[in-house]
Amino acid sequence: MVVTVVTTSPFADQRPGTSGLRKRTPVFQQPHYLENFVQALLEEAALQAGQSLVIGGDGRYFNREAIGTIIRMAAANGITHVVVGRGGLLSTPAASHLIRQGAAGGIILSASHNPGGPDGDFGIKYNAGNGGPAPESFTNAVAARAAALTRYRVADLPPYDLDVLGRQPLGDVTLDVVDPVRAYADLMASLFDFDAIRALFARGFRMRMDSMHAITGPYAVEILERQLGAPEGTVINAVPLPDFGGGHPDPNLTYAHDLVEEMFGVHALDFGAASDGDGDRNMILGQRFFVTPSDSLAVLAANATLVPGYRGGLAGVARSMPTSAAVDAVAETLGIPCFETPTGWKFFGTLLDAGRITLCGEESFGTGSNHVREKDGLWAVLFWLNVIAARGESVEQIVRQHWATYGRNYYTRYDYEAVPSEAANGVMALLRSALAGLPGTSLGGRTVHAADDFAYTDPVDGSTSAKQGIRVLFTDGARIVYRLSGTGTEGATIRVYIESRETVPERLGMETAVALRELVDVALGLAEIVARTGRTEPTVIT
Ligand code: G1P
Ligand code: ZN
Repeated sequence: MVVTVVTTSPFADQRPGTSGLRKRTPVFQQPHYLENFVQALLEEAALQAGQSLVIGGDGRYFNREAIGTIIRMAAANGITHVVVGRGGLLSTPAASHLIRQGAAGGIILSASHNPGGPDGDFGIKYNAGNGGPAPESFTNAVAARAAALTRYRVADLPPYDLDVLGRQPLGDVTLDVVDPVRAYADLMASLFDFDAIRALFARGFRMRMDSMHAITGPYAVEILERQLGAPEGTVINAVPLPDFGGGHPDPNLTYAHDLVEEMFGVHALDFGAASDGDGDRNMILGQRFFVTPSDSLAVLAANATLVPGYRGGLAGVARSMPTSAAVDAVAETLGIPCFETPTGWKFFGTLLDAGRITLCGEESFGTGSNHVREKDGLWAVLFWLNVIAARGESVEQIVRQHWATYGRNYYTRYDYEAVPSEAANGVMALLRSALAGLPGTSLGGRTVHAADDFAYTDPVDGSTSAKQGIRVLFTDGARIVYRLSGTGTEGATIRVYIESRETVPERLGMETAVALRELVDVALGLAEIVARTGRTEPTVIT
């Protein structure tokens, strides 16, 4: 095997964010850019001969070229076994599962829910042997290596074919091309009551799954249509495309428009769901009914014992700090611990590994469990189907009953995308300077109980993460949270999370926008959003 050592100079911007290194595609296509980062990553991962590396991506533009580069560099850096999904495809949760089946780590190519294509976004991240995103200590070390890199290694390999299943010996490295769906589908069948879900569809229950021309298409067709008997055509936008058909593959009320149109129209089906670019996010809809991701987590936690994989109960639950406290109420009733972590799935990893939690989730359409170490879109869909089959009730009935039992957390998130960084930093600086004076003051009829910049100490490994978002907590359980996105690629994105808690039965059925109107005004006023960003409306409201 001929290995070439290429002289290079470091790039200053190779610092991974909330979920890996994410940049505009042309940035990754610059000479040496991907190679530099991969070299830094492989050196830090330090896989030994005999260990396996999983590689796969969501199929977006540049996926295949990047995988080719990574295979050649892995070989040149002494890795002897790589496992790649056919066509270079693996959903993020399926990659996590494959890694957990015995690999030392994995490289996932995706920019998640960000648009793809020559002018879209691309991304790369490393998952460790537990199947989860590498912790901050690892990503910081990779960034430090990348900032000092002067050479990378790449091997000449004989021709190989990513579209052919099976083992291909390539000199010093062995390539295994695997079916991206099979192992994942088996895992789902081991967790959920497929017979009950099959019977549900056989009784005429109808759903729509919008795969948004992203990675879950083949997974959803196989599991929902082939294995569970949902009618052909249940899955729409099922063919993964390099540019996601020009869409924005983010499953929310704004971007999953095909699904939303149907599910809020006169011909709405019983159940609707969507997932994102790399298949780890989910949106759940009932007939003309939206389930907030925070509520979804709480409902799944409350109903977990109806599902075979969780029949023994939950060890604990966790949510990211900006996620509504709906699941906290369930945990309290169940008498199990509830952890509040910073934004980003990587913070759930230690808790899952230590067996302290079973379910976890984020308000950003992410839900998951200890079955893998990533959030998992289709898993959430199957969980809901299992609960619906077991309870024999509609999505809306299940959620309304949930509110009646546990109370309701009204919740909304305002995103201001592509704000000039200076203005966004100004907003955060203003809020930080106001923190000390807030407790005890009255805002929009509520009293501030505490205000801080969220800091977290991991209860398992003791690692700390500071400045994870500004929290304004009110005495009645309402909260306002502000933070800057760590996944955007253009300017800054300001996220404002607004939540109030309601337990009075007559006040559980309000429109969210009505219930939160005053609190939204308080939130935007406190941060001087309009004055400082010039934006009178957010880019997206979820
Ligand atoms: C966003 C979400 C966060 C999620 C991440 C990756 O990160 O807010 O919950 O874990 O995407 O999907 P952000 O852009 O806010 O840093
Ligand atoms: Zn994603």
